[in-house]
Amino acid sequence: MDRVRLGRTNLMVSPVGLGCGGYSRLGMRESKDASIAEGVVKHALDLGINYFDTARVYGTEEVVGKIVQSERADVVISTKTMFRDKDGGYMPAEKLVESLEKSLVRMNTDYVDVFSFHGVTPEHLDYCIEEYVPVLQQQIELGKIRHLGVTESFAQDPTHEMLRKAVPGGCFDVVMVGFNFLNAGARDQVLPDCIAHDVGTQVMHAVRRALSNPDVLIQNIEQLIASGEINKGAVNADDPLEFLTSHPGVQSIVEAAYRYCRHEPGVSLVLTGTGSVDHLTSNVAALTAPPLPDDLMAELDSIFGKVRSVSGD
Ligand SMILES: NC(=O)c1ccc[n+]([C@@H]2O[C@H](COP(=O)([O-])OP(=O)(O)OC[C@H]3O[C@@H](n4cnc5c(N)ncnc54)[C@H](OP(=O)(O)O)[C@@H]3O)[C@@H](O)[C@H]2O)c1
Repeated sequence: MDRVRLGRTNLMVSPVGLGCGGYSRLGMRESKDASIAEGVVKHALDLGINYFDTARVYGTEEVVGKIVQSERADVVISTKTMFRDKDGGYMPAEKLVESLEKSLVRMNTDYVDVFSFHGVTPEHLDYCIEEYVPVLQQQIELGKIRHLGVTESFAQDPTHEMLRKAVPGGCFDVVMVGFNFLNAGARDQVLPDCIAHDVGTQVMHAVRRALSNPDVLIQNIEQLIASGEINKGAVNADDPLEFLTSHPGVQSIVEAAYRYCRHEPGVSLVLTGTGSVDHLTSNVAALTAPPLPDDLMAELDSIFGKVRSVSGD
């Protein structure tokens, strides 16, 4: 698989990243059998993926650390820390350092390539920057973190208010942004600033639930018709993406959804989250395929182009 530059980190990464969280958590959400997750990570390496996004709360750091061990120098690991306690208060900064240390132990590694604040909503960004970033910068000096990042909460912040402020702010070399053809607002609201500031981007929610589950898709479409963000007459209510699945250039909604994201200017890599090696194989094929045909891109954008309220959950 090719390598792309992850913005100003200058890390060379695969354009497909393995998402080790989301609804699948490498299959560990359904099954406590770590061998399934290990098989997915091994398969990702075999397919040429060198970017792995995990987090303490996903419960997949051990699996990632164990399987990438022998190729650690060529692999880019992204993990994250929470910053609020169970009562919603801010954790003391030392707890974030403790979280980093525990991640290093779980992954059996000396450093994390990208260490991000997990799911920051707009009201918490300033606190993270003022109180935590200086402490984590000391960890960069100690060699335990290579780059700082921030991930948004797309469901709670579907207009990217947090990232619109964080990207030009300059503290974060890498961001994780929600982007899919149901809500492509990041195209105007986030990605141009990422290009201007040379910030590396990881796309999440390319498929999520709405584009992998027909019932959830219909619920999303009903919500968007009710909010007036899409025209009722623009889609067939029973099979809203029929124009896509019947197109000769496309095999499935999932394939189209990944291809839609992959070629967007400003996108460094797209995360795919799965507990299935077969899904991973087909998703990598989609993410390394050419862009969607122009007529499909135009149709998707004419239907969903004004949507800013959903995340695809
Ligand atoms: N704020 C944050 O920091 C944050 C939030 C969300 C996600 N993330 C990161 O982003 C990653 C990607 O998460 P996502 O939820 O956005 O993933 P996604 O790739 O958009 O969607 C994954 C969902 O689609 C299903 N799926 C995948 N391939 C499929 C296929 N070929 N056919 C049918 N269904 C398929 C998966 O189920 P199967 O297991 O059945 O394949 C899973 O439920 C996460 O793993 C995590 O690393 C971060």
